[in-house]
Amino acid sequence: MVDFKYYTPTEVVFGKDSEGCLPDLVRKWGGTRVLIHYGGGSVVRSGLLAQVKSQLDAAGIAWVELGGVVPNPRLSLAYEGIELCRREGVDFLLAVGGGSVIDSAKVIGYGLQYDGDVWDIYDGKHKPVASTPLGVILTIPASGSEMSDSAVITKDDGLIKRGCNSDLCRPRFAIMNPERTYTLPPYQTAAGVTDIMMHTMERYFSHEDDMLLTDAMAEALMRTVKECGEKVLADPENYQLRAQIMWAGSLAHNNLTGCGTVSDFATHRIEHELSSTFGATHGAGLAAIWPHWAEYVLAENPTRFAQFAVNVAGVPNDFRSPERTARAGIAAMVDFYHRIGMPANLPELVGRPATEEEIAEMAWKATRGRTVRLGNLKKLDYDDVVAIYRMANKQ
Ligand code: NZQ
Ligand code: ZN
Repeated sequence: MVDFKYYTPTEVVFGKDSEGCLPDLVRKWGGTRVLIHYGGGSVVRSGLLAQVKSQLDAAGIAWVELGGVVPNPRLSLAYEGIELCRREGVDFLLAVGGGSVIDSAKVIGYGLQYDGDVWDIYDGKHKPVASTPLGVILTIPASGSEMSDSAVITKDDGLIKRGCNSDLCRPRFAIMNPERTYTLPPYQTAAGVTDIMMHTMERYFSHEDDMLLTDAMAEALMRTVKECGEKVLADPENYQLRAQIMWAGSLAHNNLTGCGTVSDFATHRIEHELSSTFGATHGAGLAAIWPHWAEYVLAENPTRFAQFAVNVAGVPNDFRSPERTARAGIAAMVDFYHRIGMPANLPELVGRPATEEEIAEMAWKATRGRTVRLGNLKKLDYDDVVAIYRMANKQ
């Protein structure tokens, strides 16, 4: 078990009608003039946006708004947000939506506290030292951004998708009402379930074999999300199922399940190129890559993959061969992805195989021009990443 720091400052208000706390929470964190940031329209259709505005009005809290965040959010809109907030004297950011909206707000928060170009943070030219306070009303459980230290953004020019990690951007509060997720399309529900499981899988597949408590929590979380995820697709307005998934989404990525492990995140880095190149939904891209990453790195720690196979994927233990058990676990995950409507390879994700040129460019971008290696279980260089994309490219 490796040493760790666990820091999770976000105040969570969870349940039916939890939105009622909004004005008190904004005031508690010093908000007097709020940017309401949101996406492409789901919060308009659901009435949530109108409710937020009238709650702030009733509490005498001034607000401005900026909608239009797209999935895999763009830097250009964050620039617009920074300008708007400066002009309007905004002192608190409120993200109403999912990971894309939250991350866009996080980037605006960094930009407001920095005189230079906020992309400098993503280009390694500037280390953030402050961020404008942010609160969240979550409408899709998936990214875990409502409690995470991460903000992922795509630069429009060159479609470069990058993440930045810093405790500074962790939201001050997260309001989570599972009823708000009833309207999610099945594909987004399934992609969210995949992403949630993956945030813990990225921490679980490690060389560390002695984190008993962390393993027990991680396995319970992954099993719960897997079981509830499959059931909720047939019963989308089931509060209990939606609630389990929503809470798991936050715990999967606030590092609770990473205490004592060395996290990997290669699958995420390999996936980010699929989101930027093909506009793939993040969770679906993860499902298309993970089985192939797993096959590629399995030999690094077969017993860990076998443990996952038995305790999470639900396959019988073949005591004579951890490798065989591990492979059965990977196959069971592929079946699971198919059952919930997720792809399990690139042709299923994109509708055609990726070209060799696309693979080369994605591997180049993922390894930042062959200068970094990805992951920890096995450190992957450019050639390894190309090999994984090629494995994922077969139907
Ligand atoms: O834009 P609207 O109209 O709101 O529609 C959204 C969007 O089309 C829709 N949606 C959200 N809530 C809904 C709803 N539709 C109906 N009913 C609702 N209640 O769902 C679509 C996807 O939303 P998005 O915010 O893009 O999804 P998600 O939460 O999966 O976020 C994905 C982004 O987060 C990043 C991903 O890379 C991607 O850019 N990630 C951020 C992380 C972090 N900051 O910690 C970690 C993750 O690994 C991930 O990389
Ligand atoms: Zn993710």
